[in-house]
Amino acid sequence: MPEKTDVYYSDYLRLDAVLNAQNPESDKKGVEAHDEMLFIITHQAYELWFKQIIYELDSITDLMEAPEVKDNSPAMQTVVHRTERIITILRLLVDQINVMETMTSLDFLDFRDLLRPASGFQSVQWKALEARLGLRFEDRHGKGYYTSQLREEDVSSVKDTEQRPSLLELLNLWLERMPYLDFLDDRADRSDPGGHPFWQDYKKAYSESLLRIEQSNTVLFDALLFGKNENPDRRLSSAACRAALFIVLYRGYPLLQMPYRLMNGLLEIDELMATWRTRHMNMVHRMIGARVGTGNSTGRAYLKAALDKHYVFSELAELNGLLVARKSLPELPESLARMLGFSGFEGFLEKK
Ligand code: HEM
Repeated sequence: MPEKTDVYYSDYLRLDAVLNAQNPESDKKGVEAHDEMLFIITHQAYELWFKQIIYELDSITDLMEAPEVKDNSPAMQTVVHRTERIITILRLLVDQINVMETMTSLDFLDFRDLLRPASGFQSVQWKALEARLGLRFEDRHGKGYYTSQLREEDVSSVKDTEQRPSLLELLNLWLERMPYLDFLDDRADRSDPGGHPFWQDYKKAYSESLLRIEQSNTVLFDALLFGKNENPDRRLSSAACRAALFIVLYRGYPLLQMPYRLMNGLLEIDELMATWRTRHMNMVHRMIGARVGTGNSTGRAYLKAALDKHYVFSELAELNGLLVARKSLPELPESLARMLGFSGFEGFLEKK
């Protein structure tokens, strides 16, 4: 028999609170609505996972806020590991829509009107998650609506989150600090990185890879990689874009593995969030057709616009349009190639 003072399963997990937190409105009103329990539990499960994702994101941003995060450091490994954990959770969240969809439109109608004006739109954690990644207030779809539906304390909680440096902002700073850019640039005029032989060679290879109808892409190439950072809508500076492109191009070098996995992971997060939004939107369409949501938005139309507007890492995706095939890649200066390799192990391996 466990002692009273022993850690006990249900106490440890606070199951008294968790398993007694389902209070269907239909029960209170004496209405028959079997599926409201599923509706509540599915939302609660989502909120618990949102909490875990925000927890991981906070730890990632804490690590990234350090003045230096070396590419092969334990901190970087942790950042990548936790990013990949978020991805795994998001995959689960996309799949969880299947459970919700076992409820039919008629089942939903049994209790839907009892919920007004509550809506998933009021999920503060979802908004915090978006903000922690890097979605700014000014970039949100339907800003007036965004603040009008939340309680005052919830608006200020999301606003507080928006004030903290987001993952996208920290990514930009981290990319700008990449030391091998100095290595590439030190032979040239620093005020004109595009004049460096490496980027000259790369631009030539890129132009040659373009179809005739794509020739104007070189304008985008110059704007993204060597622009003067005058566009306030852009979140990655041209120095950060050069570093990001370099990482993707030369990710075969061991030192660039972790940075590459991080950036690829962020694109995956964006894609999975969009996949969730798409599945949620389709579920809404199937469930309520063209009717307004319980939160009084235009329903599917609102969700479609938010889906299109709420990508966070699209500037990273855009850079993939500036790649060239491996066979056309300029060879790196030997000293830089050594720095990006396992050069520190050479003496050790020779001894073996
Ligand atoms: C029967 C199932 C569902 C229906 C019909 C539905 C419907 C809607 C609608 C119409 C909106 C737009 C706001 C409004 O007017 O209410 C919305 C927003 C939202 N819902 Fe759902 N929802 C369902 C299930 C879920 C579930 C399981 C979650 C999980 C947490 C969820 C989370 C959200 C979130 C986070 C938003 C805000 C999305 C954004 O602003 O981009 N919904 N929902």
